[in-house]
Amino acid sequence: MNDLKLAPPGTPIVLEARGLGRSYHGKAVVSDVDLAVPAGQTVAVLGPSGAGKSTMLRCLAGLEPIQTGSVGFQGGPLSEAGGRPRSFHGRIGMVFQQFNLFPHLTAVQNVALAPVRVRGVAKEQARSEAVALLDRVGLPEHRDHYPFEMSGGQQQRVAIARALAMRPELMLFDEPTSALDPEFTREVLAVMRDLAEDGMTILVVTHEMEFARRSADRVVFMAEGRIVEDGPAATVFEQPRHERTRQFLAQVLGE
Ligand SMILES: Nc1ncnc2c1ncn2[C@@H]1O[C@H](COP(=O)(O)OP(=O)(O)OP(=O)(O)O)[C@@H](O)[C@H]1O
Ligand SMILES: [Mg+2]
Repeated sequence: MNDLKLAPPGTPIVLEARGLGRSYHGKAVVSDVDLAVPAGQTVAVLGPSGAGKSTMLRCLAGLEPIQTGSVGFQGGPLSEAGGRPRSFHGRIGMVFQQFNLFPHLTAVQNVALAPVRVRGVAKEQARSEAVALLDRVGLPEHRDHYPFEMSGGQQQRVAIARALAMRPELMLFDEPTSALDPEFTREVLAVMRDLAEDGMTILVVTHEMEFARRSADRVVFMAEGRIVEDGPAATVFEQPRHERTRQFLAQVLGE
């Protein structure tokens, strides 16, 4: 399969969808999606508004049931058509456009909460891990700040640290910078680039073309619920095979 060409042979597949379909009220929103994300790859999902990108991501995260096909995670089942998805809470980290931090908790408390509650980590250890993660996302001086005391970009980096605190094997991002001003967007993209270079497996829906082109190994283009094109970032940007991809790129890059 085209997907696997970029990863060395034998690289394990972290996330795999086959024939994935999702509909609302009988109307297909995601159709017949085949997608494999090998360990350590960064895959960017592009496409026009309403293409079904967020819906696909939620299905891959097990947040929504699917009507056709299946999703596998780390070689086991995550979701089957007609069934309830299995929860891989924490092992699959999610970051959305809206950061959804707990407003009454500081940055450190936001990051340390789930490890204590879900992973059973001792409070002191969770706190020191949270401090280290906040350093890693470039926020050492904001440890004890509440969300309202931070910029959107800082809050989003706390949200990334919070997901990382659960030691995820896969990170899913849905337009993590769309709500941010350009200066703050850069900071968040830099954190994501670091993660990618560090070997994290990442699937990211984004409108940041430069990030997709430079930091993603692979680009998936979606339109009308389907994957139209899937290939190395450079190929998709420079030699898109499909007219629909060409139109989209001309539109978003031509401005
Ligand atoms: N819960 C829902 N109930 C009914 N229809 C929905 C629901 N969620 C999404 N849809 C529809 O599914 C289609 C795809 O939506 P989705 O949010 O996945 O698109 P998207 O590619 O993420 O778009 P955007 O770039 O604007 O975020 C849209 O037509 C949307 O109206
Ligand atoms: Mg969306």
